[in-house]
Amino acid sequence: MSALLNEALDGPRGPQSAPATRLQPMQLADVPEVLTIEREVYALPWSEGNFIDSMAAGYVAYVLRPVPSLREPKTPILGYFLAMKGFEEMHLLNISVAAAAQGQGLARQMLDALCRLCVEQNCPQLWLEVRLSNQRAREVYRRYGFREVGVRRGYYPVLQGPREDACLMSLAVPQ
Ligand SMILES: CC(C)(COP(=O)(O)OP(=O)(O)OC[C@H]1O[C@@H](n2cnc3c(N)ncnc32)[C@H](O)[C@@H]1OP(=O)(O)O)[C@@H](O)C(=O)NCCC(=O)NCCS
Repeated sequence: MSALLNEALDGPRGPQSAPATRLQPMQLADVPEVLTIEREVYALPWSEGNFIDSMAAGYVAYVLRPVPSLREPKTPILGYFLAMKGFEEMHLLNISVAAAAQGQGLARQMLDALCRLCVEQNCPQLWLEVRLSNQRAREVYRRYGFREVGVRRGYYPVLQGPREDACLMSLAVPQ
C-alpha cells in the first residue's frame, strides 16, 4: 500500500478527538469483523459475498484500525471503505464506521485517504450514491465538499414497500 494513503491520517486536518489510526488493505480474514459492523449500521447490509466479490474484482478496499501498540497488537476495525476505479474517476461503493466510533472524524479521515488515492491514480472525479433518507451521510458528504448532482429513481431495495431513490453526489477531488 502507498505510504501516501496513510499520510492523510497524520496530517493537520484530522480532528483532535480522533484516535491515531492506520488504513490497511482489506483481507479475506477481515470480512467477518467487517460484516459485524455492516450488519450493525445498515438495515440492508452487504452480504459476505459482496465483500469477497469486490476484493476478487480488485476494487479499492481498506479497513481502518487504531494504531497497534505493544499492549494491543491487534486492534479492532473501526471503519472501512470500498471503491471502484474507472477512467479518470472513482466510485465510492461503501463507507462505514462502527456505531461506537461514529462522530469522531473517521469518515473524514477515510475520505481524505481516498482523495489521496484518487490523485495518485489520476481520478479527478469522485462519485457516490446515498439513500435520500440517509440525512446523516448526506450531511457528512456535503460538509466534505460533495455536491448533490442528481437522483437515481428506485436505486435501492427497502425492507418493505417501493424501492428508494438514491442521491447521486460528486466531488471534484482537490489536486
Ligand atoms: C456516514 C458515516 C460513514 C459518517 O461517519 P463518521 O465517522 O461518523 O463521520 P465524521 O465523524 O467523519 O463526520 C464527518 C463530518 O460530518 C459531520 N457530521 C457527522 N455526523 C453528523 C450529523 N449527524 N449531522 C450533521 N453533521 C454531521 C461531522 O461534524 C464532520 O464534519 P466536519 O469534519 O466539518 O466537522 C457513519 O455515520 C456511518 O457509518 N453510517 C452508517 C453507514 C452509512 O450510512 N454509510 C454511508 C452510506 S452512503
